[in-house]
Amino acid sequence: MRLLDASGEPINDSNVAQDEFEREGISKLKSGKNWHESIVSEKGKRHLRVVTPIPVVLGKCTMCHENYKNFKQGEPIGAISYNIPIR
Ligand code: HEC
Repeated sequence: MRLLDASGEPINDSNVAQDEFEREGISKLKSGKNWHESIVSEKGKRHLRVVTPIPVVLGKCTMCHENYKNFKQGEPIGAISYNIPIR
């Protein structure tokens, strides 16, 4: 599981989409979807990959993430990326 930025200004630059699946997922979430999934093959094993949105959950989030003030309520500023091996 990884925490991703969708605001364009991450605190930690390594928290950005790392591959095509995550980039496509963030773009879908920003256009209003609340779930992006795919079943992929990694080293011969099947994995369920999912990206879900994180809005500005609390006003206090802006204490550290100043840029979140520029987003509308409910708009995703981040995402959680899951990668789960399946049988
Ligand atoms: C006390 C300061 C603080 C508060 C309050 C805070 N964050 Fe963060 N947030 C951080 C730091 C520091 C990181 C980078 C963590 C890392 O990767 O090491 C981070 C990372 C993130 C990321 C990943 C992208 C990035 O910027 O690196 C998201 C998404 C995020 N926070 C969302 C939220 C949300 C939503 C809230 C409110 C519920 C919140 N944060 C409140 C300090 C804070």
